[in-house]
Amino acid sequence: MKRISIYFFLITIIVVVYSCRKDYRIIEQAPNNTPISIKSFIPPGFPSLSSDLNIRPDNPLTEEGIALGRRLFYDVKLSGNNTQSCGSCHIQKYAFTNGPDLPLSFGADGISRTKRNTPPSFNLLWSKHFMWDGSQPGIEEQATGPITNPVEMNQDLKLLVNELQSDPNYPALFKKAFGSDSITIARVQMALGQFERTIISGSSKYDLFMQRKVNFTPDEYAGLAIFQSMTLGDCVHCHSLGGAFTDFAFKHNGLDTALPGGTIDVGRFGITHQVFDSMMFKTPTLRNIALTSPYMHDGRFKTLEEVVEFYDHGFYRNKNLDVNMALLPKNRMTVTQKAQLVTFLKTLTDTVFTKDTKLSNPF
Ligand code: HEC
Ligand code: HEC
Repeated sequence: MKRISIYFFLITIIVVVYSCRKDYRIIEQAPNNTPISIKSFIPPGFPSLSSDLNIRPDNPLTEEGIALGRRLFYDVKLSGNNTQSCGSCHIQKYAFTNGPDLPLSFGADGISRTKRNTPPSFNLLWSKHFMWDGSQPGIEEQATGPITNPVEMNQDLKLLVNELQSDPNYPALFKKAFGSDSITIARVQMALGQFERTIISGSSKYDLFMQRKVNFTPDEYAGLAIFQSMTLGDCVHCHSLGGAFTDFAFKHNGLDTALPGGTIDVGRFGITHQVFDSMMFKTPTLRNIALTSPYMHDGRFKTLEEVVEFYDHGFYRNKNLDVNMALLPKNRMTVTQKAQLVTFLKTLTDTVFTKDTKLSNPF
């Protein structure tokens, strides 16, 4: 009797461990789907080596997978009360952020608020960490976070699978994308991941200028020089020029991270628990920055002018302040230079991307 209960106990453990394994596995592509070369998505001047890219050999992009992912991205069925989609907070015309009036986003219930500002969510193909604190290591893994989060879409994954499986359209679309009509969360993650990798912005005025197709005005050109100057803007130290406009690192840019009520948002520290990561946040891209107000992880600044004032003299010299910023004197830019810097930042707006119908809501 005792032995039987030990066996029973062991079997239970095995079942529990097995069912808790990552719901993510290599899946078969439908036999007649041709993977699309990722290189065809990479704009001129962007890094293109495989090691630069966030690609998964077990989730190649296919036309059918991307189409399914796009539909899922914009489908309110993904939320518990069928009112909110990924696209409700990641809005194309605001470069996949939530828009100018929302430092924090509303959840599907219309009352809950997210903890942080909705970040510019594009060019993820070049990103290695996701979220302001880098808590998510992969595009696929990230996708279920907002679906189940009670302050976001508040959905039960089992119910979601049932809902999609009994939908008149989805089984056929999953079959097209993945070879059979069985719907799993792993496949939902994979389709979303495929679509998200195609959300790419690389056609701004800055890009055309780099390709020598347009000229900058004198102010735009002066602003670029200030952006790069180690003694003036010094923005380039973290928001690297080139494809990404970020160094993909976690940095402390001198924000006071106190929250109302006396607590602080500890940023990266909350993930690594390393003292040196305290109050560090992922350097965001500056592409499309004129479209993604309000700014910073908590959306505290409304305008680019405010941001530039902050970097000119508003930053705090906390002990974790980035070493390069710590060397900079305050009030180092003239009024004209600050205005030119803002003028340059506006050249990073890409309306080809914000109007691209391949990225828009298909419903
Ligand atoms: C309620 C609004 C809301 C909804 C709905 C939402 N997100 Fe987000 N998203 C956010 C916020 C806020 C963050 C940043 C959270 C943080 O860093 O703590 C974020 C972060 C992200 C990031 C990380 C971007 C980066 O550069 O690090 C990705 C990718 C993303 N969301 C994709 C999705 C997908 C896919 C869906 C749908 C399944 C979705 N989001 C639904 C608000 C939302
Ligand atoms: C030490 C690295 C560093 C330097 C130098 C730096 N930044 Fe940043 N920047 C960051 C980090 C990190 C964040 C996110 C901080 C946060 O939200 O807590 C950020 C955020 C921003 C944002 C808000 C982006 C968004 O999506 O909300 C803008 C705009 C910006 N920086 C512009 C600039 C400009 C202009 C300069 C030069 C004057 C500059 N930065 C210099 C690291 C840096």
